[in-house]
Amino acid sequence: MCGIVGYVGDKQALEVVVSGLRRLEYRGYDSAGVAVIADGRLDVRKKAGKLVNLETLLGADPLAESTTGIGHTRWATHGGPTDTNAHPHVSEDGTVAVIHNGIIENFAELREQLTADGVHLASDTDTEVVAHLLARTLPQAAGNLTEAMRLVCRELQGAFTLVAIMTEDPDLVVGARRNSPLVVGVGEGENFLASDVAAFVEHTRNALELGQDQIVTLTKDAVSIIDFDGHRVEPSPYSVDWDASAAEKGGYDLFMLKEIAEQPKAVADALRGRIGRDGRLQLDEMRLDDAALRSITKVIVVACGTASHAGMVAKYAVEHWTRIPVEVELASEFRYRDPIVGPSTLVIAISQSGETMDTLMALRHAAEQGAPTLAICNTVGSTIPREADAVLYTYAGPEIAVASTKAFLTQIIAAYLVGLYLAQVRGTMFADEIGRIMAELNDMPQKVDLVLDTVEPVRAIARELAGCSSVLFIGRHVGYPVALEGALKLKELAYMHAEGFAAGELKHGPIALIEEGVPVVVIVPSPRGRALLHDKLLSAIQEVRARGARIIAVAEEGDERITPFTDHVIRVPIVPTLMQPLVSTVPLQVFACEMATAKGHDVDQPRNLAKSVTVE
Ligand code: F6R
Repeated sequence: MCGIVGYVGDKQALEVVVSGLRRLEYRGYDSAGVAVIADGRLDVRKKAGKLVNLETLLGADPLAESTTGIGHTRWATHGGPTDTNAHPHVSEDGTVAVIHNGIIENFAELREQLTADGVHLASDTDTEVVAHLLARTLPQAAGNLTEAMRLVCRELQGAFTLVAIMTEDPDLVVGARRNSPLVVGVGEGENFLASDVAAFVEHTRNALELGQDQIVTLTKDAVSIIDFDGHRVEPSPYSVDWDASAAEKGGYDLFMLKEIAEQPKAVADALRGRIGRDGRLQLDEMRLDDAALRSITKVIVVACGTASHAGMVAKYAVEHWTRIPVEVELASEFRYRDPIVGPSTLVIAISQSGETMDTLMALRHAAEQGAPTLAICNTVGSTIPREADAVLYTYAGPEIAVASTKAFLTQIIAAYLVGLYLAQVRGTMFADEIGRIMAELNDMPQKVDLVLDTVEPVRAIARELAGCSSVLFIGRHVGYPVALEGALKLKELAYMHAEGFAAGELKHGPIALIEEGVPVVVIVPSPRGRALLHDKLLSAIQEVRARGARIIAVAEEGDERITPFTDHVIRVPIVPTLMQPLVSTVPLQVFACEMATAKGHDVDQPRNLAKSVTVE
């Protein structure tokens, strides 16, 4: 959700803030705004629409020069995406400006109190109440913005990151964090606040994690942190292990295209260094001891969207290798159904961003029930891995396009590593079996590379089908979550009706959707690995084809039996069954990307979506 940047230093704040916003725009892009302090007053510009609209406004109506500033890109929650509702919001007396990410749940009550006190609220947002509250609390806080922020935060309910500046102290930026991301960038004679390190990584790779319910105060030379009770907190420093170029398009037209192309490297990085000198699998970040892992009787994976599809793929492998039952649950449903969770249930949260609120809340619920928790995450230092008992990072590098690609493949790899590790610890597989599967996994970067080399025809198919109103995806076994993932990519990028089904379910309802010309993408299992399923899928193809469907098969090299029954065949290399999702998903990513491009959509920033969903 919303992107936040704060800066204090020697540079022109506007330039730093706007370039930070450019890197954060994937978090929300329905309006943007900036504020600086110059000559004892706040200078604010904000504009509905993408960042470029704000930049155009700034070109026509430049902001005053200043070395302290804040900026925001918004994903609307309270109030539509208008100029007025864009952040920053300013207190009625014009002394305090605030930006915010999250939802202030008791805002209606606070708004009512302010209105009763005669305050005029200019916007429909929950954020604006904070600007007024801060200004009204400052006298009680002896004019200290940090203290005012602390007092106000104690009155707020919900999830929020807040960053504020005030005219009385122009060299100060104050931030607060509850359940919403905020990181500090520590520079030389300059400091930064942002929802994501991407905003400041071109200036510094030294970062500080902020914990729950903490307030941070920045001047150009100092960073200090307190908690909501006013106690000093020692910061936890870390170093960002990628540079600014990793968050740039690097010659590609789209971040999504770049990230699809990066998948062989991402998979290799996710696998790197996992085998110790003794030939055994070692997961350094796995902070759960082996005894605890031996006592596990059930695994529950909680995740959202694409990450949940990775969990579904992993279920097939982990159950097979460990003989432990694995449930995969949408994180948003988990804590509301009184799940059966206890000390012998390992709860695995999968999240690219590490900030998805539904997943975080599911993880917390599991921890409250006494379950050991493990995060599979891409973003180092984010909330979910910090709160989990153990973490396995996916090392895919920054994923900027809203539609997840390389994160998905690496989430599968990481979940497989956890499965193999459990099998090793529990003795359900021999060392040589684990070694064989690790060798298969280590082949995957090259196999994914092969897919990328041969994926060009997929673009032509996508363009041919761009006029269709609906596309169905079917698969079986590990091909089923791949079908779901293919459909999700098409929905979010091409804005069209797309559904994924388990092929065996067709006859139980979905086949009624088939009419003349409907494209059906079929994820075909290997005829060698899963001969029975291959036969059954051939029958499913016949059934939908008999009713007029156009068949696009994703099938392995050499599978000629399907050819007579298809309109198009997308070939993928021969790999073991459990590895198939790693190759068969890639053409579906390209398919969705190309179809969205053909329809003229913004692929990297699809409508209504944001990269990191930090509200429930
Ligand atoms: C789809 C997509 C989303 C995310 C979901 C979870 O392309 O990107 O479905 O997978 O919002 O996000 P993370 O993994 O950050 O928890």
